[in-house]
Amino acid sequence: MSSLIHRSLLSQPTKAVACDGVYIIDSQGKRYLDACGGAAVSNLGHTNQAVIDAIDKQLHSVAYAHSAFFTTQALENLADLLTSLAPGMDKVLFLSGGSEANEAALKLCRQYYVESGEVTKSIFIAREQSYHGNTLGVLGIGGNEWRKKAFKPLLRDSHLISPCYEYRLKAEGESSYDYGQRIANELETKILELGAENVAAFIAETVVGATVGAVPAVKGYFKRIREICDQYDVMLILDEIMCGIGRTGSMFAYELEGIAPDMVTSAKGLGAGYQAIGALLCQDYITDVIRQTSGFFQHGHTFMGHATAVAGSLATLQYIQDNQLMENVNQRGKQLLNCLHSSLDSNPHVGDIRGRGLFIGIELVADKITKEPFPAELKVNKLIKSTAMEDGLMCYPMGGTIDGKQGDHILLAPAFIITESQIEDIARIISLVIEKVTKGL
Ligand SMILES: Cc1ncc(COP(=O)(O)O)c(C=O)c1O
Repeated sequence: MSSLIHRSLLSQPTKAVACDGVYIIDSQGKRYLDACGGAAVSNLGHTNQAVIDAIDKQLHSVAYAHSAFFTTQALENLADLLTSLAPGMDKVLFLSGGSEANEAALKLCRQYYVESGEVTKSIFIAREQSYHGNTLGVLGIGGNEWRKKAFKPLLRDSHLISPCYEYRLKAEGESSYDYGQRIANELETKILELGAENVAAFIAETVVGATVGAVPAVKGYFKRIREICDQYDVMLILDEIMCGIGRTGSMFAYELEGIAPDMVTSAKGLGAGYQAIGALLCQDYITDVIRQTSGFFQHGHTFMGHATAVAGSLATLQYIQDNQLMENVNQRGKQLLNCLHSSLDSNPHVGDIRGRGLFIGIELVADKITKEPFPAELKVNKLIKSTAMEDGLMCYPMGGTIDGKQGDHILLAPAFIITESQIEDIARIISLVIEKVTKGL
């Protein structure tokens, strides 16, 4: 028995010993085609020499210097580059992961309101079926019921509105646009119910990731959300920890929505898995108020702005730019959707195939007409994951798609360097896996 607390205390995962581009190799020499980047992390595959060299170089100059004493050139360069890539964003803080980035967003937002004299503003509204991290603050405000259940007494109350989830929640005969407006207007109702003077921010993933499975909002939804936030002096915080940094076809996913948030958070692909890093970006007006009042953001972590982590992230972003990888994201994303449609549209258990860029979700159902999910006890998502691993494919299936309990989906998020033939392999293997699992039920 291992002395490590693994995710499961009943079994030990396969041991990874080497990597080769988009493949991970285990101790038996078996190769796994990584079709999900772990959790949409490994955007450049696993053996990118430019990133490895940049990290090595940084380790040999300044591996780590505490941010209360020093800045580094890599840190300043990454701040300039990332803010230049994020329309409307002026300032950035670097942290060590997604939950830390969202916690920092809540605190920066609250501190802004305190220092601008709006001290009653402390409520964060989020959406059902949302996930913003596992630390207590962000777990509490989010809508991922199964992750929250045991910890409820430790969490603050959440205030949730419906997700923008067209496949299941659009009414019969309603247009996509009207559906989006109706659902966005739930935010206005919620703000009025709580009192605008008490609401600090609305937080949402621009494209929903793990909880519902690569679900973009319908056209017009985020424009209406932005209008409501402006009308009631409520900040819009977009969580792009999973869907940002090129994953959904643009550097920041909100670019395609035609709006800019007050703050946006990033992690995962920001370091592409070579280093642990997260970021909180915000508009100038927020830091301006704090600069003119207390003069400092009352927050900090030991590894904030870690020199080696930011050097790895800088090389990651530069590699994406230098190699025009966004083109590949969009082309291979379209190819993957087409391949999946041609092999899975006739499958009676594939209810929906959706997504944007190289961020694709496949929702599985017991009945395609009624959209009835499989009984949760069958643990279809777990069977998909283990069968795919047997067949040499990493994908990211999840249960509780509909309400935290029912529903199953598979998330695909291959690396931006994925080739045409590797996309064909992913579509072929995942289709066979779905067939194998659903036939055996
Ligand atoms: C949308 C979203 N927000 C926040 C997080 C939390 O990030 P981390 O696991 O790096 O703390 C995740 C992680 O899956 C995520 O998908």
